[in-house]
Amino acid sequence: MKILVATEKPFAKVAVDGIRKEVEAAGMELALLEKYTEKAQLLDAVATADALIIRSDKVDAEVLAAAPNLKIVVRAGAGYDNVDLAAATAAGVCVMNTPGQNSNAVAELVFGLLVYAVRNFYNGTSGTELKGKKLGIHAYGNVGRNVARIARGFGMEIYAYDAYAPAEVMEKDGVKPLASVEELYATADVVSVHIPATAETRQSINEALLAHLPKGAVVVNTARKEVIDEPGLVRFLEARPDVKYVTDIRPDNHEEMMEKFAARYFATPKKMGAQTAEANINAGIAAARQIVGYLLHGDEKFRVNK
Ligand code: 3PG
Repeated sequence: MKILVATEKPFAKVAVDGIRKEVEAAGMELALLEKYTEKAQLLDAVATADALIIRSDKVDAEVLAAAPNLKIVVRAGAGYDNVDLAAATAAGVCVMNTPGQNSNAVAELVFGLLVYAVRNFYNGTSGTELKGKKLGIHAYGNVGRNVARIARGFGMEIYAYDAYAPAEVMEKDGVKPLASVEELYATADVVSVHIPATAETRQSINEALLAHLPKGAVVVNTARKEVIDEPGLVRFLEARPDVKYVTDIRPDNHEEMMEKFAARYFATPKKMGAQTAEANINAGIAAARQIVGYLLHGDEKFRVNK
């Protein structure tokens, strides 16, 4: 059995070593395709793969068609919007993610971005502190929970809105659940976005929702660029020179954002949230174990396409 790790943005070497150990201990073979630049390279590499470990790499119908032996794809990470689930199901391929394995890394980056933003991007002028400010966590999943844990250390007042998570889960963490997303945006000095990109959430953070933000608010997005209505964000920031936007996912209109809002906008050049040795090890090894469990024992825990 051949397990292919196909990562345009590679894991830390120590994580790849850990994946190799898991795969070889199960009597399987590891193949690596890292830093590829063309889809054709992925199409070639999957031709002989029985299983695939990916990150944000796109697995669409064409990739699945080029992989006749493929039985399972594991997205080493949380969001699986990069995998065509319907095409995978049609091809008889199991798709899994590794929930929670990289969430602390993403949550820590939220605060890296936030401190940078509230200190005016270290431009020498007086900024503000996070202590005593109201934090609004938009979706209370694995990352949201870690953000709440760290925010307590900063002395923030913590609020969250999640259409699916029960209020008791938030309350147990000392987080105040709010009844609507509008209320969250109206309450928070800082909004941290953690919604997945789905048909329902795409472009849902729009001008009308952002208009609820109080004066001097900061929005930090370490989730997906697709959840932002980018033209709406531009219109909003034009109307509201007091608001800052910082993100780990460069918007499609990055150049326009830089041109118009350089003093209150920042995007990491490459998505860095899950780019720690620890997160790479956790997610990569979990992916390898899930593949071995599925191929040898039919274990379907964490399957996301039914
Ligand atoms: C995730 O969904 O797990 C994160 O967005 C991390 O994505 P990455 O593995 O491409 O860094």
